Amino acid sequence: MKKITIYPLWTRIWHIINGLLFLLLLLSGTSLHFGLLSLNFSLKLHIFSGISITIAYLIFFAANILSGNIRHYFAKHEHFFKHLKAEYKYYLWNIFLKQRTQNNPEKNKFSIVRQIINAKLMYFVLPLMILTGILMLVPDVIDKSFFQVSDIWVISLTHTIFGYILTIFFILHLYLGTTGKKVS
Ligand code: HEM
Ligand code: HEM
Repeated sequence: MKKITIYPLWTRIWHIINGLLFLLLLLSGTSLHFGLLSLNFSLKLHIFSGISITIAYLIFFAANILSGNIRHYFAKHEHFFKHLKAEYKYYLWNIFLKQRTQNNPEKNKFSIVRQIINAKLMYFVLPLMILTGILMLVPDVIDKSFFQVSDIWVISLTHTIFGYILTIFFILHLYLGTTGKKVS
């Protein structure tokens, strides 16, 4: 079998650190929301891992541009809708018939569904979590009359709702990670 390398070393290192920090944030964030562990401990853990994931994200952001890996997140696919439909059909039905995916990772690093999920994760949902998290750490930077209602309430609500959305993306991401051709 031919061996192809599509995940460079830096994305792997970033990915391990990011994954661990995300799990810590999910645990401490859930604990903050439902009062599962000591408030003091959960808050310290959440802020420590929140600042760390912010730094890791900034490194990812720069390295993704500098290495050119970003092109896979915004690649244009030929016959987009036809292939998107075929991919949905694959994930919702054909996969259970043990058919192989049509996507060739040598040609397209991410299949269309994977690309949409990875791009939304890295360029919309995670940055919004980081931004709302930081705004809660330094609430005074927002003009008090900006949202008309308590601005920290709006930011905290957005942070919590996107926490749920990020978790759904994460579950889809884990599932997709178990499918497709074995690549390295
Ligand atoms: C990326 C994954 C993250 C998840 C899943 C997550 C989840 C949560 C949850 C569920 C809460 C409780 C909200 C509530 O019930 O009011 C929370 C609060 C908070 N988060 Fe996050 N968060 C994440 C990232 C971050 C980041 C990156 C930062 C900062 C850099 C941050 C800073 C905060 C702060 C300051 C609070 C408020 C704590 C308090 O109640 O005083 N979070 N987060
Ligand atoms: C902790 C558990 C995690 C596991 C087991 C996991 C698994 C995987 C696998 C198998 C891949 C390669 C296949 C693919 O692209 O789908 C991958 C890539 C990727 N994952 Fe995860 N993941 C985890 C957490 C996360 C989190 C929390 C994020 C972001 C919030 C994330 C973002 C990404 C991105 C952006 C890629 C593509 C990296 C590249 O451009 O080379 N992963 N992950």
